[in-house]
Amino acid sequence: ESNQFCDVGIGDGHSTCRFSTKSLSKILIKGGTVVNAHHEEVADVYVEDDIIVAVKPHINVGDDVTVIDAAGKFVMPGGIDPHVHLAMDFMGTQSIDDFFSGQAAALAGGTTMHIDFVLPVDGSLMAGFESYEKKSRNSCMDYGFHMAVTKWDETVSKEMEIMVQEKGINSFKFFLAYKGSFMISDELLLQAFKKCKSLGALAMVHAENGDAVYEGQKRMIELGITGPEGHALSRPPVLEGEATARAIRLAEFVNTPLYVVHVMSIDAMEEVAKARKSGLRVIGETVVSALVLDDSWLWHPDFSIAAKYVMSPPIRASGHNKALQAALSMGVLQLVGTDHCTFNSTQKAFGIDDFRKIPNGVNGIEERMHIVWDTMVESGQISVTDYVRVTSTECARIFNIYPRKGAILAGSDADIIVFNPNSSVEISAKSHHSKSDTNVYEGRRVKGKVEVTIAGGRIVWQNDELKVVPGSGKYIEMPPFGYLFKGMDKAEASYLSSLRAPVKRSKSTT
Ligand code: URP
Ligand code: ZN
Ligand code: ZN
Ligand code: ZN
Repeated sequence: ESNQFCDVGIGDGHSTCRFSTKSLSKILIKGGTVVNAHHEEVADVYVEDDIIVAVKPHINVGDDVTVIDAAGKFVMPGGIDPHVHLAMDFMGTQSIDDFFSGQAAALAGGTTMHIDFVLPVDGSLMAGFESYEKKSRNSCMDYGFHMAVTKWDETVSKEMEIMVQEKGINSFKFFLAYKGSFMISDELLLQAFKKCKSLGALAMVHAENGDAVYEGQKRMIELGITGPEGHALSRPPVLEGEATARAIRLAEFVNTPLYVVHVMSIDAMEEVAKARKSGLRVIGETVVSALVLDDSWLWHPDFSIAAKYVMSPPIRASGHNKALQAALSMGVLQLVGTDHCTFNSTQKAFGIDDFRKIPNGVNGIEERMHIVWDTMVESGQISVTDYVRVTSTECARIFNIYPRKGAILAGSDADIIVFNPNSSVEISAKSHHSKSDTNVYEGRRVKGKVEVTIAGGRIVWQNDELKVVPGSGKYIEMPPFGYLFKGMDKAEASYLSSLRAPVKRSKSTT
């Protein structure tokens, strides 16, 4: 393992590897069907160090090159998970997968980059960023950051500028839920949206009405419903629909693009659909749990099983999942994340007497690529090219790192998977790579298998074996003014010129 040139982590910028004479690796992936978001063809892919050098049929190489036979298999860009919480301090505890274990799990499942949510420390974005710099030092795959904004003042406004202009962050997340902790008011949301617009940063919302959720929770406790089912009953889809609609309208009012994270319900999905139909720049992200699970688990008589399905917004009644699959297949929703935020059984048990204390979150970073394939491609709902789009390319485009990420093209980063559609995988906590002692997809058998993962030019997953190096992952800076902002200035100018001229009234003299 030629790791000595590349173990720095944040700020590495790969300068040391680029200028070293020693090659990290030379790999030829031979004879597979190379799939990009808009095209597929049988071709070879040649990698040197951490870059794809060539994609074309019949590449001949010397015997210093590692050859991977991909005949009959798909060669696709590694997955990019837009929604992950590793080592997150939340609800009195910390999510159990840290940057190393969560990323190792990701790599075993064919995901080669994730974007994590930095939480401010006592409201300070800078302190939050520094804390996540430390948390991510042991990274074994590439990652980027979104930044949550949980309060508003001049300092936060200034820090948003610094995050975008100096720290490589181009998106900010606002929580309309979690009253008493992360939630912010509409008044602050408007200020923050304006700031996002001026910085060319994408505003993201967790859309549930936090005040109403608080009421709903009190109602359940008064009714004596204290188990995990109370979680779903206390925050029904209508509260997700309301907050989604409100965030969309406020973003429209400010005229800035909006990204709705974890669309879990038909109610929220239909608001996204309506907005997009009327020409608004609104992105809808769904998550694997929303696509394939249903809320019946929350009624399971065994608390330890029911509690693992507690996440927010809640996993919905059967029917929402199928509707979200259809929305994904028709482009109403654009991409799939996981909201991977794992807590083990002892952490989930904090809420044994009160569902409000069950740490919210499910696993998925390792399962996403397999489940989306099985659910969407194997079922015939989307093409293989669309699979690449919703698991990788669209995320890279939205967060402005395409085609460095999200593509198999000469010059792109060597983040590649070899996928065998004729194999299969059984998901279980016994064999997964997350630190969590449970898995919400326990026992599920899925068609298709990620046989090889190449991340940053290294073969990190092959023959069911992980070879990951702590510190080898790079922090990926994401520049502002991505494609969602293109033409916004023209739209703004035409809006201003469309305003009917205000009446000039003379001062009345009585
Ligand atoms: O339940 C969830 N989703 N936990 C992570 C925090 C969030 O709201 O995304
Ligand atoms: Zn490096
Ligand atoms: Zn959320
Ligand atoms: Zn989340």
